[in-house]
Amino acid sequence: MCGIVGYIGKRHVVNTLIDGLKRLEYRGYDSAGIAVMENNSISVIKAKGKVSELQKKVAEKLPASASSDISSGIAHTRWATHGPPTEINAHPHTDNSGRIAIVHNGIIDNYVELKKHLSAKGHKFVSETDSEVIAHLIAECFEGDIVQAVAAALKKLEGTFGIAVMCADTPDVLVAARRGSPIVIGVGNSETIIASDISAIISYTKRVIFLNDNDIAMVSAEGIDIRSLDNVPVSRETAHIDWDAEAAEKGGYEHFMLKEIFEQPAAISNAIRGRLDETQANGILSGLNLSAREMAMINRIVIASCGTSMHAGMMAEYYFEDLANIPTEVEQAAEFRYRNPIIEPNTLVLAISQSGETADTLAAVREAANKGAIVAGICNVVGSTIARETGQGLYIHAGPEIGVASTKAFTCQVAVLLIMALKFGRGRRLSRHDGMKLVEEIKSIPALVTQVLEKASDIERIAKKYADAEDFFYIGRGYLYPVAMEGALKLKEISYIHAEGYHAAELKHGPIALLERKVPVIALANDIPGKDKMIANMQECRARKSPVIATATIGDEEIKTYSEDIIWIPRSSQLITPIPTVVALQLFSYYVAKERGCSIDQPRNLAKSVTVE
Ligand code: AGP
Repeated sequence: MCGIVGYIGKRHVVNTLIDGLKRLEYRGYDSAGIAVMENNSISVIKAKGKVSELQKKVAEKLPASASSDISSGIAHTRWATHGPPTEINAHPHTDNSGRIAIVHNGIIDNYVELKKHLSAKGHKFVSETDSEVIAHLIAECFEGDIVQAVAAALKKLEGTFGIAVMCADTPDVLVAARRGSPIVIGVGNSETIIASDISAIISYTKRVIFLNDNDIAMVSAEGIDIRSLDNVPVSRETAHIDWDAEAAEKGGYEHFMLKEIFEQPAAISNAIRGRLDETQANGILSGLNLSAREMAMINRIVIASCGTSMHAGMMAEYYFEDLANIPTEVEQAAEFRYRNPIIEPNTLVLAISQSGETADTLAAVREAANKGAIVAGICNVVGSTIARETGQGLYIHAGPEIGVASTKAFTCQVAVLLIMALKFGRGRRLSRHDGMKLVEEIKSIPALVTQVLEKASDIERIAKKYADAEDFFYIGRGYLYPVAMEGALKLKEISYIHAEGYHAAELKHGPIALLERKVPVIALANDIPGKDKMIANMQECRARKSPVIATATIGDEEIKTYSEDIIWIPRSSQLITPIPTVVALQLFSYYVAKERGCSIDQPRNLAKSVTVE
């Protein structure tokens, strides 16, 4: 996620802004920038890479002597969504006059048409970003009052924003506003700080005001005035935050992993935003440079990935075959790269990778390309190597994932792959009616995940009950089989418990020999096709004295007969239920690991991105 800092007040402005950016570094970013007000003119300095790179440039371009003339400023760390991580694409962005500067968090859905409209009016754009449009739009609306100009511009935006704005014509104020991307304002003594999260503020003041959606604030050193975009005054209470700085980085959560688990409704909303065509009952895959005819010619899909991303690929195999009737296979990327895979001209090779840097997956991409495959990437990190080398694909917009154990990236991967299968399906035999039904189901995913998160304490209770086990089995069928695999991986990697994921039918072909009272089994018994067979598998496990913890669809009371404990999942179809179910298993793993006192965000032996073989 990008980071925003704005400051106006008595302190050294540049130092305060840089300090604020450093407190936001944990969020992950790829470039940074600063704009300062100096004698009624704005100076902008930006750098690719770390804040330390920006600091070097600032030291060169803003001599220490200038600091007393600098009265305010805004700053930004960028997590690229539109346009690769470059100095030009870094924020702040300005209008052509250089008298308006903005920093932005969020995604502007209608930036292409706005950019065309503004270009036709003579505005010259320099970056590939959606955010730059905001600076030009404010300039276009400016008639002397910066707050009114910002409000007028924001009303034309579709999508999400958290912004801070400065204008050389009104050097004594900053403007902040939000819709869907947080903005918090720290109220100090003769100083005011704007930020995208509390961690940049907490060391200066604990008195904060959270803007609501469509609030716009005029910020001066003496205080703030908050209004609606229609210029109606609104009052927002001043909260007192008692977190310390470290707690603030995690948004008040104890671990990044827990924060990222709870971010999933918002992350999944970002992943699907702008990708569902409700008119055509179809998916929108703007990052895929394939015509409808080229997509229709694809007669086989091979998915190359590792770890959690491979489990997302297993989900995609079911989606592509069921919805689009395209033969699909999932390959462990290291296996794919060495086994001389069969690739034909109409084979699509999909590389799924959160980091976009996994060595085996990158090697698989190169092997596929050498064999003439059509290659595409499903990545989270914009501008990552796999994203660049595939040359086409879809970003999952999950935001930076700090916890080594992947959570929100997985659910966003699955959501994007489902939309991809919808697109392929509608280009084949999937009817408009069935397509529309699926569009509505996909839109419901964030709410389903929220329902699971609201039951976190129930899951915590069950997790504590079984935290002493040294072996676990996870079993699933159909669409829940990949979820069993992913659930077992989550438990393994953060609690160090030996956990095996299996297809439920596979147990009796050997693994059942391991079942006994001290070996719990997590059985994914949601109410989807195959549940009756799952119940039989649960009975097999209990006959061997293994306690069974079942996931079950809310209201499906019969499951109580076959299990010791139940994690309830809101009802949804077999296509959708894997996502709320895996969130429940993420929470289960988290609470088990916490009970065992494990290092949850940085588990032993693990790296967030495996960039070596
Ligand atoms: C997932 O929790 C693990 N951290 C690991 O399996 C990861 O999914 C795997 O290394 C692939 O990483 P990637 O998605 O960045 O390619």
